[in-house]
Amino acid sequence: MQRLVLGNWKMHLAAGETAAFLRDLLPRLPRRADREIAVAPPFTSLPAARAVLGDGPVALAAQDVFWEDGGAYTGEISPLMLQELGVTYVLIGHSERRLHLGETDLMVNRKVRAALQSGLRPVVCVGEQEEARASGRAPSIVRAQVLRAFDEVPRADADRLAISYEPVWAIGTGRAADPPAAAEMHDLVRSELRRLFGEAGAAIRILYGGSVSARNIDAFMSAPGLDGVLVGGASLDAQEFARIADFEAHS
Ligand code: PGA
Repeated sequence: MQRLVLGNWKMHLAAGETAAFLRDLLPRLPRRADREIAVAPPFTSLPAARAVLGDGPVALAAQDVFWEDGGAYTGEISPLMLQELGVTYVLIGHSERRLHLGETDLMVNRKVRAALQSGLRPVVCVGEQEEARASGRAPSIVRAQVLRAFDEVPRADADRLAISYEPVWAIGTGRAADPPAAAEMHDLVRSELRRLFGEAGAAIRILYGGSVSARNIDAFMSAPGLDGVLVGGASLDAQEFARIADFEAHS
């Protein structure tokens, strides 16, 4: 399957900074058929990003979406609004939203279903906190997040889904998971996906996120079952993100 390298800019790179950053980044990126590259700017930077990306190979992602197409929902952005801007992927349920904005599994599920209905491709973020890991509850927590996120999602839509396994303690800390430990969690997520979607569950990309860098990317992409990465901090440095996108997988 084609791997996905997705840069999550979080609340960085305003509209006025986006074009210059992407003009610097694009010529550095590899063009290799075995991988797809995408960037997720803040909402207000999406039009500027779209203008520079044009019809090129780098896909546009959003960092969140609401579950209604329109209405009295002050401050929210609908799937249709994203689609109009040429957005392909949308992050849903990032741990920062779960933590700081109270996003629940139920909200994640609503967003996933609404995004699919509008033709967007959800990238659902799951992952355990440090205490859960320490007490051995990581597998059950991640399993529950996956099941709830995809409740009532039709099998026919499975090919448009992706998951990013992001242990919360690894995000923005410089303390990435060990690739073999991440691979174990990916295995667990894969078996849940098969249970939910049958054979179609085998084709859903499972990314890893959490302190991915130019130094550790090759190890992650060489671990079994990792179908890509969600890159936060390191995606804001054009040279480093280009190196990450140019990963080598050794089997
Ligand atoms: P990080 O963030 O690469 O800065 O750890 C990853 C993420 O939050 O998606």
